Formats: sequence, structure tokens, C-alpha cells
Amino acid sequence: MNSALDILRGCAVAIVGAGLVGRGWAVVFARAGFPVRLYDANPEVLQAAPALILTQLEGLERYQLLDEPSSVVASRITPHHSLAGVVDGAAYVQESILERVELKRELLERLEALDDGNRIIGSSTSGIPASQFSSGLTIAPRVIIVHPVNPPSLVPLVELVPSPSTSPQTLAFAKNLMQAVGQTAITVNKEVEGFVLNRLQAVLLREAWALVEDGIASPEDVDKTVRDGLGWRWSFMGPFETIDLNAVGGVSDYARRLGPLYQRIAASRTHDAPWGGTLVEEVEAHMRGQLPLDQLAQRCQWRDLQLMAFAKHRKENS
Ligand SMILES: NC(=O)c1ccc[n+]([C@@H]2O[C@H](COP(=O)([O-])OP(=O)(O)OC[C@H]3O[C@@H](n4cnc5c(N)ncnc54)[C@H](O)[C@@H]3O)[C@@H](O)[C@H]2O)c1
Repeated sequence: MNSALDILRGCAVAIVGAGLVGRGWAVVFARAGFPVRLYDANPEVLQAAPALILTQLEGLERYQLLDEPSSVVASRITPHHSLAGVVDGAAYVQESILERVELKRELLERLEALDDGNRIIGSSTSGIPASQFSSGLTIAPRVIIVHPVNPPSLVPLVELVPSPSTSPQTLAFAKNLMQAVGQTAITVNKEVEGFVLNRLQAVLLREAWALVEDGIASPEDVDKTVRDGLGWRWSFMGPFETIDLNAVGGVSDYARRLGPLYQRIAASRTHDAPWGGTLVEEVEAHMRGQLPLDQLAQRCQWRDLQLMAFAKHRKENS
């Protein structure tokens, strides 16, 4: 297919952790033509995974986002009941287990014991730098963060975050692999908690909480501002591109005209604000008024349908 398949030399991709993200990764790798081996420490999760994955694939098929029948893609995915079994013959492991550093460390120690000297391990962690669970291991040069956005089968961005021990070859492999499966990879050059995506999201959410706390806007109006304002441009261009087009002289002109305003805004938020207390209760009450908790899962399905319609639009117009 392309260079990443050459690198894999006909080997499989192993996914460890068959929860929300692991199942999404299974779709991503299988639809790109890779044999996928799937494992979860919880046998019930593993047993339920193929049917849930098939449902995802059928949704993609309905939106013409698959090049082959969903059954063909699904047939590439095989559940395995042990860690040794799932990594046997796999050149790449996508770790997608719970977000707990000690569990990730323990898993890497077990993967080190099963190492074949070549296998590369990508971690789906949302924000833990790899050195916190790979340091001191002989496999550390072949460990890298490969952080997706949920669901990875619909949202293409992946953050590649090498630790100081990660080899340049591992980073190059991960870039090739992500390209081969149709994801958009960025490289986070230095280890930092939250990487890039969640750091950007953190700033927006910090201000969103504060605007509600200060009585400046309701949660509904904050959501509207992103949904019907900022988000329109952000769905196809980034913040630097946005401001580059918002002043006749480009980004430096924008910085000259509006930099002082943004600086005053930043200076007005000098302390960190814990997420908790009456503020979270207020937003929770507001959100539950719009959407009862028992309808949350249904709304997630609605979100995925919106994402599929958007992915179809992007595919047809890119
Ligand atoms: N949910 C998201 O939006 C999202 C997005 C990007 C990245 N992530 C990251 O992806 C990872 C997985 O998140 P998730 O949302 O899929 O969680 P999840 O709870 O849905 O799935 C985790 C799975 O890992 C299994 N597991 C735990 N320890 C294991 C082990 N030692 N070996 C094999 N399986 C094991 C659990 O049984 C569970 O099924 C986390 O690191 C998370 O931070 C999550």
C-alpha cells in the first residue's frame, strides 16, 4: 500500500485495550488494510468488541466513508485472549488501556518481557508524557505517544510525542504509519503535560468556566459562541490562519492592532481555577436541563452521525 506497510512487512497491528479508543483504533487500522489483533484484560469487553466495531464500520459504510464492505474490513480484526498472543507477529502495538501511569508502566514491563527487538509501541494516553512510564526500560527507544482524538475513525488528528529516549527511527515510523492510515499527525517536540490539543482546549475551557462564574454569559451562550462562531472557521483552519486573514496586513498587522487587547485579557486571568464546587454544579444543572443524563448515550450517537456527515463533506471537498 505504501511505506508504512513496507515497514510492517506484512505483520499485524496489535491493540491492547478494547475500550472506546482501542475499538476506534481497530477501525482505523483495519480500514487501511492492516491485520488487527485485539486484546483486553477484561474478557467481557473483548467479547463485546467485534459487534461494537461492526456497528461503527456499518455507520461509516452508510456515509460512504469505507472503500470496502464493512464485513471485509471487520474480518481483518481478530480478538486474542492473552497479551503474548496479541503481540505475537505484531510489528506495532497501540496501547489503549486506562489512563493510569502505574498500569501503563506495568504493561510496558510485560511488553518488554515479550519483546522481539523491533516492535514499536504507541500509547494513546491523553496527557501523560511517555518518559513517566517508559524510562529505564530497554524498549524505551521504541515507545512513543500516539494520541488520537475520539473517535479516531472520524477525527483525523494524532499527536506524536517522543520522550527524550524515543529514537528518531520510531518517530519516523509513527509518522509513516499515521500517514498510511489516513490520520493527520503533528509532532510535539518536547514532553509537556496535555500535549498540544488538550493544552489548547484547557485554555478555552478555563475561560468558559470563568465567563459563567463571573455571570458574563450562560453555559448555553458559551457553547453557541463556539458552535456558531469560532467553530465555523476552526473546522477548516487553525487560529494562526484565522488571524492571518483577519487583518489586511496578515498576522503581524493583527498582532499590532489587537495584541494589546489580548494581552489585557490574558492578564485578567492570572490565577488557576479549580474545576469544582458550585460552579460545576451550576453548569451541570444547566446541561441536564438541556439533556437528561439517560439521553447522553443517544446524544453521543447523534454526535458521531454529525461527525460522519462532516467527514463525508470533507472527503468530497478536499
Ligand atoms: N476517551 C477519550 O476521549 C480518549 C481520547 C484520546 C485518548 N484517550 C486515551 O486512550 C486510553 C483509553 O481510553 P478509553 O476511553 O478507551 O478507556 P476505556 O475505559 O473505554 O478502555 C480502557 C480499556 O483498557 C482495558 N485495560 C485496562 N488495563 C489493561 C491491561 N493491562 N491490558 C489490557 N487491557 C487493559 C480495560 O479493561 C478497558 O476496557 C486512555 O489512556 C485515554 O486517556 C481517550
